[in-house]
Amino acid sequence: MKRILISGATGNIGEEVIYYLSETCNESEIIAAVRNIENAKKILPNHGNLSFTGFDFEDESSFNTAFKNIDVLFLLRPPHISQVDKYFKPLLVAAKKNGITKVIFLSVQGVEKSKVIPHHKIEHLIVQMGFKYIFVRPSYFMQNLTTTLLPEILKNQSITLPAGQAKFNWIDVKNIGEVTAILIKSFDKYQNRAYEITGTENRSFQEVTDLMSQITGVNISFKNINPLSFFFKKKKEGASNGFALVITILHFLPRLQKEPRISDDFSVITGKKTNKLKEFIEREKEKITKHKLQ
Ligand SMILES: NC(=O)c1ccc[n+]([C@@H]2O[C@H](COP(=O)([O-])OP(=O)(O)OC[C@H]3O[C@@H](n4cnc5c(N)ncnc54)[C@H](OP(=O)(O)O)[C@@H]3O)[C@@H](O)[C@H]2O)c1
Repeated sequence: MKRILISGATGNIGEEVIYYLSETCNESEIIAAVRNIENAKKILPNHGNLSFTGFDFEDESSFNTAFKNIDVLFLLRPPHISQVDKYFKPLLVAAKKNGITKVIFLSVQGVEKSKVIPHHKIEHLIVQMGFKYIFVRPSYFMQNLTTTLLPEILKNQSITLPAGQAKFNWIDVKNIGEVTAILIKSFDKYQNRAYEITGTENRSFQEVTDLMSQITGVNISFKNINPLSFFFKKKKEGASNGFALVITILHFLPRLQKEPRISDDFSVITGKKTNKLKEFIEREKEKITKHKLQ
């Protein structure tokens, strides 16, 4: 039986990957690699082929137990961890020592053009160390609207970012989970390539807040901010230097670049179409307008 280890299992992507794997992959054992097993059991539904193991990116002593007898490692970079040499190098060395040969890494669209983001270095390391690999490079998550950007939406009915009029490509995390499950299941067929997982809509934050206002009936505005002020705003809110820098770059850089490429990798692999922003906002309307319902 194939044993698949999922890091970041309780997060946006991990949860969806586990859902789609357990729906379609009965012949495999799915192991959620988590910091807190009791907590993870509450978050993740009780699938028959799902088990749990203790694992902490920031604690090397947890690696060997988690990596025993694993066929495929689904690896992501938790947003607050940016030091590749300190955290990812030892992790990949331990994976290799424990006989893992296949790594599927959650990267980001445009990674090949941006040497400053940690994903760039992680991809290089995976290739350099001789793993069989798949890189999943998604565009901008629709779920940012219902996670990281949500507190400001609920408190002030606004989104403040250094994004200007730049267009972002919007993808539903559910679509990423679905395609990743197929890539894991048929690893050999898809290996040693990167896949750009994008939606079909390139939209600016102004356009997205307009759409949100129209669908929810709540007036949500977009406020542009210069990148330096945004960086220090994030620091003031408690973000580490690395995290503040990565999110500043991710929201500012698109202003200097061409519009994101729209890829057909998702539909080629799944035979389906990606979800639209309108569907997503309608689905999540209650979350976005929670303050109005209280
Ligand atoms: N947001 C976007 O638009 C976007 C677009 C493209 C790519 N990405 C990339 O996607 C990745 C984030 O994925 P996500 O949104 O699924 O993340 P997420 O929802 O923030 O979840 C992070 C996961 O990592 C786990 N984690 C954090 N620190 C850990 C540690 N020290 N040891 C073990 N587990 C730990 C968390 O577990 P706990 O339950 O223990 O906290 C959680 O399961 C980032 O690398 C980001 O750059 C994001």
